[in-house]
Amino acid sequence: MVLWGVFVLGMESVIERVLITEEEILARLDVVAAEVMAELGDAEELVVVALLKGALVFVADMSRRMPVPLVMECVNVASYHGGLESSGEVKFLDAGMPDVRGKKVVVMDDILDTGLTMHAVLRELMEAGAERVWSCVLLSKRKERAVECEADWVCFEIDDEFVVGYGLDFEGRYRNLPYVGVLRIKN
Ligand code: XMP
Repeated sequence: MVLWGVFVLGMESVIERVLITEEEILARLDVVAAEVMAELGDAEELVVVALLKGALVFVADMSRRMPVPLVMECVNVASYHGGLESSGEVKFLDAGMPDVRGKKVVVMDDILDTGLTMHAVLRELMEAGAERVWSCVLLSKRKERAVECEADWVCFEIDDEFVVGYGLDFEGRYRNLPYVGVLRIKN
């Protein structure tokens, strides 16, 4: 913890404030993972799909709170292209989708913002033959979506600010911060 304090101090102007602490995140994950298990724990074939790269840390912690023989898959998508705002275009960076035919699928992402990414991924997975698809996000921004899309499970609702840490990045950095913080925007 001390080291991370130094890291943030060293980065001084990068994090404006810590929004959700590591302790708060992990406590909330206990609750949400239990809710997912209550709904899907007896599924014969459960697939968890992590949206790369933002969901990496979230899925690592969530999946270890889901004590069933689930299958983990990844889908590589990009919509921010490194900046502070969605480009409005969701790019699928892999050649195809994982094999989800006839399976129950939970898509996990770091954040629901415009909703475009989750909407596009849910559609692709249904088209790929999934029996049913749920969505679970660490964060959901309180804002109007560009498409009709809300997650089945939301760990935290936040204001419409650009955040980093716990998987979320700015220009590829800060994913390894153990908490979620608001990025200081420099003009
Ligand atoms: P959409 O707009 O498609 O966004 O719902 C989903 C993807 O956009 C990225 N995103 C963010 N990344 N801080 C980030 O580091 C943010 O505040 C933020 N808002 C959206 C993220 O990759 C997410 O999967």
